[in-house]
This record gives sequence, structure tokens and C-alpha cells, in this order.
Amino acid sequence: MKLDDAQLKQFRDDGYVILPELFSADEVAVLKGEIPDIFAQRRDENFREKDGDTVRTAFATHNYNDVYARFVRHPRILAPAEQMLDGQVYVHQFKLNAKAAFNGDVWQWHQDYGTWKRDDDMPTSNAMNLAVYLDDVNEFNGPLYLIPKSHKRGVLEAKHDLSTTSYPLWTLDEGLIREMVEDGGIVAPKGKAGTGFFFDSCLVHASPPNISPWDRLIVYISYNNVENAIREFNRAEWIAHRDFTPLKVEPDDCLLARSSAAAE
Ligand code: SIN
Ligand code: MN
Repeated sequence: MKLDDAQLKQFRDDGYVILPELFSADEVAVLKGEIPDIFAQRRDENFREKDGDTVRTAFATHNYNDVYARFVRHPRILAPAEQMLDGQVYVHQFKLNAKAAFNGDVWQWHQDYGTWKRDDDMPTSNAMNLAVYLDDVNEFNGPLYLIPKSHKRGVLEAKHDLSTTSYPLWTLDEGLIREMVEDGGIVAPKGKAGTGFFFDSCLVHASPPNISPWDRLIVYISYNNVENAIREFNRAEWIAHRDFTPLKVEPDDCLLARSSAAAE
């Protein structure tokens, strides 16, 4: 699957594009079917909220779970990533962000490439995020907030926040956020489970805590062009990957065909 000209233009102009119904309810069910087992595992890759129990982020699932290994190679997300990054890609980071009902904590204002540059020495911003909603995302359960067009400002000054949440992040100054919001506003893309949401690695974004009774699980794949591989290995391998082998695409039915074969 490739993005059409209008979708590419929106991605370039606004820094993001939303693809409703990118994955079917059956495909979402296959992806979600793996979650209880993944979240139950006490492993380094599973970051907990400050309560020490609720999963905040499960990193690198695609490296040990077969369904997610296929998912990162799915043509509906891998092909657009290759198209937008203009070449072969590998996974720089993979995360299942749970944003659990009542307990999901804030993600402060930040740019992903700001972190990848400072922490991992990624040479350029020719990398991006492809998100797929695994729950319905509404105005109450901690949707992403993003500032359209903010990606055009390049890498912004940031400070390393080690205390607000359980996960360290390079976060942006409030005055700068105010100025950018006056310019571009804030958008909070909502959608059904299965919605695809692709955004530029320099797009400024955040999300509020989830005090609703609804979980808000989103899976994020950060693809990077293989020519743009990171040069410093400061963070754990399961946060900033070192395997720069280009991904090979799977068939379009790779989630459903193999799961029904496994059930036979
Ligand atoms: C992120 O910015 O990486 C995560 C934000 C979220 O899942 O709400
Ligand atoms: Mn982010």
C-alpha cells in the first residue's frame, strides 16, 4: 500500500496523516490477543507507571513475539514508511503504549527526533512514527495532542526530564509550546481501533493522563532509513535498536492467515 498524493501532501504540510480503518476488527483482535501475555511478563522491556505495576510501555515486543514481528513488516505500514523515508528501513524503536484506564500517565511535550539525535546520535530526521490504535481513542482516554506544522521548525531546544513520569524524555519549554500553538493550534486525532496515524519525527506532541474508565492502547513503530542508522549506543538495545538490517515485507494477510493456521 502506498499513500496517495493528497495524503503525502498532508504529511509534508502538517506533519501527520490519519488513515481510518487501516486494520480490520479481526486484525486488531489478533494484535490485542497477545497483550495479556506480553503485559504479564516481568521483563526489562516492560516499563511500569509510577505505581510499579500498571504497564506504561512494552518496548521491543516485535523482537520476541511472532505476531508483532509480522506486524512491523506489514505492507500497509512498511510500504508507506519506505515511501515516505525514500528507501529501505529498519525499526529504531517499537512500543506498545498502554495508557491504562485511570492510571495512564502524561507524556510531556516533546519531539521524538530530538531524543533520537541527543541520545542515539541519529544523523538526520529521515525517520518517522507509524501508530495504530488498538483501542478506540476518544477525547477522554488520553489521545495524542499534536501541533500541526511544528515539524517544520527542526530540532528544538529541550531539557531532559527525569522526574515527571517513569520514563526519561527531552521535553520542550512552555513558552515555546505557547508560541507554536498560537501558530498551528492543537489537534487530538480520535478514531476507532484499527486507525493508522503516521507522523513526522520532528512533530511536537504530548498526551494527557487517562482518568477515564477506558484503556487507550496504541502501538508505535519508529522506522528509520537504513542509511540513517544511529551512531551512539547509550540506551538499552531494546529502546534504541542496533540491528540495521532492512525489513522485508510480509503478505497483506500475514496477521490473519498465520493466526488461523496456528488455530488449526
Ligand atoms: C509518545 O509520544 O511516544 C507517546 C505518547 C502517547 O502514547 O501518548
Ligand atoms: Mn513521542
